[in-house]
Amino acid sequence: MADLSTKYMGLELRNPLIVASCGLTKSVDGVKKCSDAGAGAVVLKSLFEEQIKAETRSTEEDMWLYGHSEAFEYVSKMAMPLGPREYLKVIQDARAASDVPVIASLNCISPRWWVDYAKQIAAAGADGLELNIAVMPSDAGRTSQEIENIYLEIVEALADAIDIPFAVKIGPHFTSIARVADELAGRGASALVLFNRFYQVDVDIEKIELAPGLKVSSPDEISLPLRWIGLLAGRVKCDLAATTGAHDGEGFIKQLLVGASVVQVCSGLYLHGIEQIGKILADTQAWMEKHGFASVDDFRGKLSQAESEHPELFERLQYIKTHTEGK
Ligand SMILES: Cc1cc2nc3c(=O)[nH]c(=O)nc-3n(C[C@H](O)[C@H](O)[C@H](O)COP(=O)(O)O)c2cc1C
Repeated sequence: MADLSTKYMGLELRNPLIVASCGLTKSVDGVKKCSDAGAGAVVLKSLFEEQIKAETRSTEEDMWLYGHSEAFEYVSKMAMPLGPREYLKVIQDARAASDVPVIASLNCISPRWWVDYAKQIAAAGADGLELNIAVMPSDAGRTSQEIENIYLEIVEALADAIDIPFAVKIGPHFTSIARVADELAGRGASALVLFNRFYQVDVDIEKIELAPGLKVSSPDEISLPLRWIGLLAGRVKCDLAATTGAHDGEGFIKQLLVGASVVQVCSGLYLHGIEQIGKILADTQAWMEKHGFASVDDFRGKLSQAESEHPELFERLQYIKTHTEGK
């Protein structure tokens, strides 16, 4: 049987399939299901600073209504540090209940809370942490460098603050992705997760109002992370996790071939059920045996730009001439 075991951020994994941060990994039961279904590791649903603030606010509002002004002050000062208690409990219980590494995920806004929560997450026993950093570059008053600095400062602060390995999950909206990747790795990120698929907004033309877009991805969306994993593999000094569009064995194998250390799967599990984990792994093993690969290292990165026989294909942006032209 072909060997799927691998390493990610220094963690030993039985295979390179990681269940991405999403609703399926928000509870101990969810994590256990992913682990029992064969996943190599699990990333917990993110802890959002806004979520904790909202919870704090509603407690504050209740207190205000009842007129307990002393208690109100106490809650507004204390609730933020106490906020993630429930999340920390999920980490502890998920570690005890599952056979695989549990990676926590954090999304903050203020610099102070990134460090504070990350320390608490590490102390709770998480095997690793994923920083879900998402800055919408919609403010015309902020330069690209200022936005990039936000990412870099968070990574620098965390590299000093915690001992567990951490990954940085980013979106594709940077002018120079290669430069940003290099800087993040240089400042202490153990891995980059490419690319987050953000909340989508859509338009309902009958109601003439804004509506949520599609929650799940389509397999076509694999192209963007595939190109960038392929361009960066072997060149950036950290691991690379692929996310977005890998729904089945084919997408999973493609990402490993272009150089992904691991592949994160989310929409494929929402669409086809948790059993899809076993199917992806079985299809990958069958493919490895068919092509004579005994381990993942035997083929990982074979088609990255650094190793491919046609590196120019990763850089081509324009359709110069295609056989469908004129149709
Ligand atoms: C319902 C849902 C909830 C998600 N929640 C989070 C989250 O809390 N944190 C995060 O980093 N990504 C979150 N994601 C993004 C996924 O982790 C993943 O990166 C994205 O869905 C692309 O991968 P896919 O094509 O396999 O779905 C969520 C995705 C979905 C569909």
